[in-house]
Amino acid sequence: MNKIGLFYGSDTGCTEAVVAKITDILGEETLDIIDMGANKGTEAFEKHNLILIGVPTWYDGELQSDWDAFFEEFQTIDFSGKTVAIFGLGDQVGYGEYFVDGIGMLGNVVMENGGQLVGLWSTDGYYYEESKAEFEHEGQKYFLGLAIDEDNESDLTDERLGGWLAQVMEEFGLEVGQG
Ligand SMILES: Cc1cc2nc3c(=O)[nH]c(=O)nc-3n(C[C@H](O)[C@H](O)[C@H](O)COP(=O)(O)O)c2cc1C
Repeated sequence: MNKIGLFYGSDTGCTEAVVAKITDILGEETLDIIDMGANKGTEAFEKHNLILIGVPTWYDGELQSDWDAFFEEFQTIDFSGKTVAIFGLGDQVGYGEYFVDGIGMLGNVVMENGGQLVGLWSTDGYYYEESKAEFEHEGQKYFLGLAIDEDNESDLTDERLGGWLAQVMEEFGLEVGQG
């Protein structure tokens, strides 16, 4: 089986900790883990057809620093034939007007560049004000990926992550734990 490319950036380690949880759930042998702080160029994206992206939002609706530095190149990637799921960390209390904006910023590029975006996640149960990650379908609001709030709701992370990964693996055509 081709490995899933898991691309993430993390300034203070929270997204990195979620990557460790994902590795535990899916199995190390299933994943190629790429820290955007060390990634150069678009090649690693081109190699993978199944892609997971981890992006925290920083500084009032901006991408985490490594994603921010890569964003221009990210916009040149041809995502056709690729299936992509995004999880994003944010703080819905302290930054409720920009909650997980990074999911929206990257997710929209994936769709505009021909990729299939999966792992949409209902906004029910979150209490932010605005988000660039929001998407409405048949009267129901979704984020363009999984929103994780380690600042205020870390007790919900395991449940959210487990449910989301099961959904994404199905959308990838895989099973959880399948190596
Ligand atoms: C200065 C600062 C700015 C932030 N800006 C936002 C924001 O605009 N939107 C948001 O949802 N979260 C925001 N956050 C919350 C972070 O995304 C959150 O703490 C996240 O878990 C950090 O992930 P990392 O440790 O992987 O970098 C901000 C946090 C700080 C300290």
